[in-house]
Amino acid sequence: MKNKSLVSINDYTKDEYLKILNLAETFEENPVRDLMSGKVVATLFFEPSTRTRLSFESAVNRLGGKIIGFSDSNSSSVSKGETLYDTIKTVSNYCDLIVMRHPLEGSARFASEISPVPVINAGDGANQHPSQTLLDLYSIKKTQGKLDEINIFMVGDLKYGRTVHSLLMAMSKFKTTFHFIAPDELKMPEEYKLFLDSLGLRYYEHRDFTDIISEADIIYMTRVQKERFSDPIEYEKTKNAYILREHMLKNTKHNLKILHPLPRVTEIDTCLDINPKAYYFVQALNGVFVRQAIITSILGLI
Ligand code: CP
Repeated sequence: MKNKSLVSINDYTKDEYLKILNLAETFEENPVRDLMSGKVVATLFFEPSTRTRLSFESAVNRLGGKIIGFSDSNSSSVSKGETLYDTIKTVSNYCDLIVMRHPLEGSARFASEISPVPVINAGDGANQHPSQTLLDLYSIKKTQGKLDEINIFMVGDLKYGRTVHSLLMAMSKFKTTFHFIAPDELKMPEEYKLFLDSLGLRYYEHRDFTDIISEADIIYMTRVQKERFSDPIEYEKTKNAYILREHMLKNTKHNLKILHPLPRVTEIDTCLDINPKAYYFVQALNGVFVRQAIITSILGLI
């Protein structure tokens, strides 16, 4: 993994996922270590973020490294018309690793191809969010004791949600059964279903999931991605398509956990937050340990 960019979850093998997860466990036991002394990480966020940026920054700070970058591209020379090419060529002179979020699909791949330092994709449009996927895998393994043969329900915006696209790719390596629950306008794109077909993996599509919720090991809720809609009326039509409420969990499995990459809008009732099956805030914490594992692996510090 040394010097290897993480642009798509498919850039890493199943063995490499497992190495990251095992390493993350050691960071969970002992997150404060002086492994990054003298190392600089640049966080370039061309789109808003709370968890991804701050958990990467927390990970670096706890390892003794330094952070540079911006959380709003309007405060950088991008606002004067500087290209992504020139931005990456310049910033890569100042750091050992770039973490970048950008609204354009393919932008992280482009950055990784022109950058002399490795690039971690922190989300490129509706395409991929691989570090989120590794923390999702960590959360699934930690709560289920395994990654194989999980019944996962992906709910909400499966068209624009980059976290579900990356997670589907990763979970396809673990004999997963997928249930896709989305309104017609936001269904899982064909390319991902064809990918599962090519592997002979089972998936089912539903408009509603109340009748089958008792089969779920993981419910992965997602926000309807307002920023990806060109027509605000379409967003209004779908924004409240699914709201998970406490009474819906009555006949669910004892091992069920509810995950959400967050931010949440209305799709999980806040009353559920204290339910032992709600796991999304711990999932966000796991992001620090997993990102510590990703960074130290790419920089060859472990
Ligand atoms: N999960 C996630 O990407 O959250 P942020 O948009 O807050 O980074």
